Parts: sequence; C-alpha cells; structure tokens
Amino acid sequence: MAIAIDLSGQTAWVTGGASGIGAGVVQTLVAAGARVVSLDRSHVPSADDGSVIRVPLDVRDSASVDATAASLIERGFAPDILVNNAGIARDAVVWKLSDADWSDVLDVNLGGTFRMTRACAPSMRRRRSGTIVNIASINAIRGKFGQSNYAASKGAVVSFTKAVARELAREGVRVNAIAPGFIETPLTAALPADVLAQANREVLLGRIGRPADIGNAVLFLASPLASHITGQVLVVDGGQLI
Ligand SMILES: NC(=O)c1ccc[n+]([C@@H]2O[C@H](COP(=O)([O-])OP(=O)(O)OC[C@H]3O[C@@H](n4cnc5c(N)ncnc54)[C@H](O)[C@@H]3O)[C@@H](O)[C@H]2O)c1
Repeated sequence: MAIAIDLSGQTAWVTGGASGIGAGVVQTLVAAGARVVSLDRSHVPSADDGSVIRVPLDVRDSASVDATAASLIERGFAPDILVNNAGIARDAVVWKLSDADWSDVLDVNLGGTFRMTRACAPSMRRRRSGTIVNIASINAIRGKFGQSNYAASKGAVVSFTKAVARELAREGVRVNAIAPGFIETPLTAALPADVLAQANREVLLGRIGRPADIGNAVLFLASPLASHITGQVLVVDGGQLI
C-alpha cells in the first residue's frame, strides 16, 4: 500500500508565512491538502486566496495574538496544526550587543512562540488533538559567533518545546521542534559572503537547504506518520551540524 500524507480537513496556522521558510511551509501544507492561515506582520488585510488566509499579526503583541486566535476559532478556523516560525536575527558579538537587539530577538523568537502556543493550547486541549511544530535552529545546539541573542532564543525554544510537550501530551497534543541548518531565504541573503561560504563548506550533502526542505519536515511531524513522536528536535541541515 502506498503511503501518502493527506491533510485535507485540517487547518494549519503558520507564523511568519509571508517569506522564506514560512512561505515554503505554507506551500507544502497547502499541497498536502490543508487549509492554511498565514500570520505575519507584513501581511496586508484581505490578501487571501483560495487555500491560504493571510492575516496581519505581530507575534510580539499578546492582545493581538489572543484576539486574532479567538476570532479565527470563532470563524471555524480552529488550529489542528500550529507552526511557530516567525523569527528575526540581530547579530553582534556579545560585547557590542544592544539591549534592544537582545530583547527584540527574544521577544519575537521565544515570546512569539509562547504567545501563539498559549493562544492555541485551550482549543487543542478541548478537541483532544493537535500538533505544534516550533522552528528552532542548529545554532541553538552548537552556538554561533555573533549570535548569542539568537542562539539563546532558539535554545529556549527547544526547552519550551520539551516542557510544553509534557504539558499537552495527556490531551493527545504533540509538540516538536525542527532545527534547520543554513537555508536560503531573505534572512540569510543579508549575511556576509564568508558566512555563506562557510555554510557551503559545512553542509555534507553539498547544497544549501531550501524552504521546501523544512516544509517537508514540518509536514512529516504534523502528520499522523509522526503520531508517536513528541518533545523531539529534528535537525534538518544536510549534515551541517555533525
Ligand atoms: N534561514 C535560515 O538559515 C534559518 C536557519 C535556522 C532557523 N531559521 C528560522 O526559521 C524561521 C524563518 O526564517 P527565514 O529565514 O524564513 O526568515 P525571513 O526573514 O525570510 O522570514 C521571517 C518571516 O517572519 C515574519 N516576522 C518577523 N517578525 C515577526 C513578528 N513579530 N510577527 C509576525 N511575523 C514576523 C517576517 O515578516 C517574515 O515574513 C525563523 O524563526 C528563523 O530563525 C532560519
């Protein structure tokens, strides 16, 4: 019997779905039949098409997160899948890191993941099903020069993933993380050429990752094929980390 992943009838919320990895995740989940809500601070209202509902949202704003979640649930878009992907980087060595660059990165990457999870958990618990995928980074595991704020935020996303996996398991809600290696997106396009060259040297499989590589991993973790997996971190990096 052929095995295929079919998410028809499922609703997925993806933060940061307007660009890069998030856009790749949206595309993959739509291709698998899911109805997708993309939540991004750069979306403009009413830019929906047939399969994607695009909602402007800043994940730093608790009141907006709660109001948006409540309104979507009331309109019949309760999340079966939540992908916490919105993230930023503000790189500097620690002795030059400003308070703003420290707290902005923590607030979006970790705070946003927390706020969205808090907003979705009651609905998932009530329905006794759901799956959450948090986008971390290999730099959470290995650290990275110039990224103490970013690595700390992503390391905390990993710890958060494990704690929430414990809290939600009883209601059948699974919580996992993906740690991407270097992926070609607008975020990494801004990096200096030597950082790209180094990533190219590190990746064993001989090519830099693409948003679809992360989309496929999200699809697996969100699907029934992963129904016995929770609290895990799946590294998707072409062998960059080992
Ligand atoms: N690109 C990589 O190599 C790489 C590697 C590891 C992890 N990641 C992580 O993957 C995720 C996506 O990264 P990307 O490379 O696609 O970046 P990107 O800059 O291309 O996209 C990020 C998206 O998040 C949105 N966003 C940012 N702040 C937001 C906020 N406060 N509220 C709502 N939306 C917000 C942006 O508008 C944008 O659409 C991030 O969490 C990033 O840390 C990326």
